[in-house]
Amino acid sequence: MKHSILICAGSLRKDSYNKNLAKHSQRILEDMGYQTTYLDLSEYTIPLYNQDLEQDGIPSDVTKLQLLWSQHSRYIIASPEYNGSISGVLKNVIDWMSRPNPALPQGASCFKGKLAGIMATSPGRLGGLRGLRHVREILSTLGTIVLPGDRAFGSASQILPVDGDIDPVTEETLRNLLLEWTDSMQKWYL
Ligand SMILES: Cc1cc2nc3c(=O)[nH]c(=O)nc-3n(C[C@H](O)[C@H](O)[C@H](O)COP(=O)(O)O)c2cc1C
Repeated sequence: MKHSILICAGSLRKDSYNKNLAKHSQRILEDMGYQTTYLDLSEYTIPLYNQDLEQDGIPSDVTKLQLLWSQHSRYIIASPEYNGSISGVLKNVIDWMSRPNPALPQGASCFKGKLAGIMATSPGRLGGLRGLRHVREILSTLGTIVLPGDRAFGSASQILPVDGDIDPVTEETLRNLLLEWTDSMQKWYL
């Protein structure tokens, strides 16, 4: 059975390179016969995490995100690197989603027991590789098995232009990476 894969970028920006990378990943995965869900975080209103807010009730868009995320046992994140680490947007969303919510079906979880691949892109040479260490650590702490092969694509403006074609070498690298990850995702039946 081929599992449906959730794909999400850790950026809200309209012309985000990471969104672009996520969308190319979606295209390639669908070519390979996978069902996918592309999640655009800018379509949700997620406040900065505040425990007082949580005590008043989980915001409705957080619940929507949790419901969507919990329906997928496999996910891929394209995360921008901010100051050598995870983007604040992504960390905030992960923090909210990690909270218990009575609106979720019993036993449902966003991260625990899931399989994930993580990647990044940035206009810089290293492509956001340093941030991925932190993304991996956070997701692992939450119980996701993060597959090996973190990949960072440098020089984003040249290889992943928002209004142009993806560079062919990047396309090939991305396809191989997705093949590797989906192969592992198929072998693990979680
Ligand atoms: C606050 C801030 C910190 C950043 N830190 C880094 C960094 O550590 N490494 C890096 O490669 N790019 C860094 N950048 C540049 C981002 O990689 C660039 O803005 C990128 O386009 C963001 O991802 P997006 O296009 O998906 O929105 C930083 C940008 C901002 C606004």
